[in-house]
Amino acid sequence: MAWNPNRPYDELPPLPPAQDLETGPVLKQCIRTRTALADLNQSADFLPNKELLINILPLLEARASSEIENIVTTTDRMFRSSVLEKEPSDPATKEALSYRKALYEGYQSMRERPLCTATAETICSVIKGIEMRVRAVPGTTLQKAGTGEVIYTPPVGEDLLREKLANWERFLHDHGDTDPVVAMAAAHYQFEAIHPFTDGNGRTGRILNLLHMVSTGLLSSPILYHSRGIIRRRDEYYENLIAVTADGAWEPWVLYVLEVVEESARWTYQKIDAIRTLRRKTKRQVREQLPKIYSAELLDVIFHQPYCRIVDLVEAGVAKRQAASTYLQQLVEIGLLAEEKVGREKLFIHKNFLELLLDESDPKP
Ligand SMILES: Nc1ncnc2c1ncn2[C@@H]1O[C@H](COP(=O)(O)OP(=O)(O)OP(=O)(O)O)[C@@H](O)[C@H]1O
Ligand SMILES: [Mg+2]
Repeated sequence: MAWNPNRPYDELPPLPPAQDLETGPVLKQCIRTRTALADLNQSADFLPNKELLINILPLLEARASSEIENIVTTTDRMFRSSVLEKEPSDPATKEALSYRKALYEGYQSMRERPLCTATAETICSVIKGIEMRVRAVPGTTLQKAGTGEVIYTPPVGEDLLREKLANWERFLHDHGDTDPVVAMAAAHYQFEAIHPFTDGNGRTGRILNLLHMVSTGLLSSPILYHSRGIIRRRDEYYENLIAVTADGAWEPWVLYVLEVVEESARWTYQKIDAIRTLRRKTKRQVREQLPKIYSAELLDVIFHQPYCRIVDLVEAGVAKRQAASTYLQQLVEIGLLAEEKVGREKLFIHKNFLELLLDESDPKP
């Protein structure tokens, strides 16, 4: 029976796909993608303060990922809430921070068990802020934005969904000699086509992609700014997903995912490089203008997040409270930081760093 967008796609075939995914063009693109990932891993390894990436990239990823659902949230707000350790009051910022938390928790869970359906349930629950389990009731459809026209109806019935997820899970861990990045592309289609949850499937799926890349060794930690690439090519994302379902068009889908991963890896690589350059420049400036207060630890604090507080210096062992406050004032005087009062707290904004992180434009070649 021909596939019909209005009917639950219970016939969704299991993985691996019947056709060979590793066509000539796919293998060529695969080399480019793997090279970009290797470069990214290497540059991350050389960064003096790795925590920075674990802190910041998931925030960018979170913002971008939330934007896919057209949630207007600013990175700035996320950084603030995150450094103030306060529950953000607006739902958009809250949602973006939940995405970061979901990524962390998923990453942590890999120490205890390999990626599986339960991991997906955990991730989706953190994203949505309520317990999310595999769908037990029918009624979930994917609709075209604006028109409401149904473009896809995922399979129905908890048992059937769990059966399909069990196949997806097996494929994650055993895909024969298929390249892991190609396998990730196939698994991502499958997860989205199963559409296990009533909402949050896209975000959960993108986090799973990152974790899958970590588990297969393609990434040394989940630091790829993956969602950026997808958002920028969102129409293609949807078209290619549909084409696999409607026409078995795997090649364009796999190529698309591989290209997006390559672009994201290159972008992240360049961002890390720009951070490293700024860090060097800032180090020189502080050493020259404030030689008495310069320390590597101080530099670490102002490059940990674009905002900091006096207590962050104290906790990092840079100085006691009184001195820490003076240090920050001096950094304000040389124009590196800007001071701002937020309630009873004083926030110090590392302007150049924030600007660098907010800049979404393509890096200069
Ligand atoms: N034709 C399709 N077949 C299967 N999956 C699709 C199709 N079109 C879109 N999708 C997937 O469904 C996701 C949207 O589903 P859902 O609303 O549950 O996820 P979300 O996380 O809330 O949204 P978003 O991905 O937009 O942030 C898309 O991100 C995409 O991954
Ligand atoms: Mg949604």
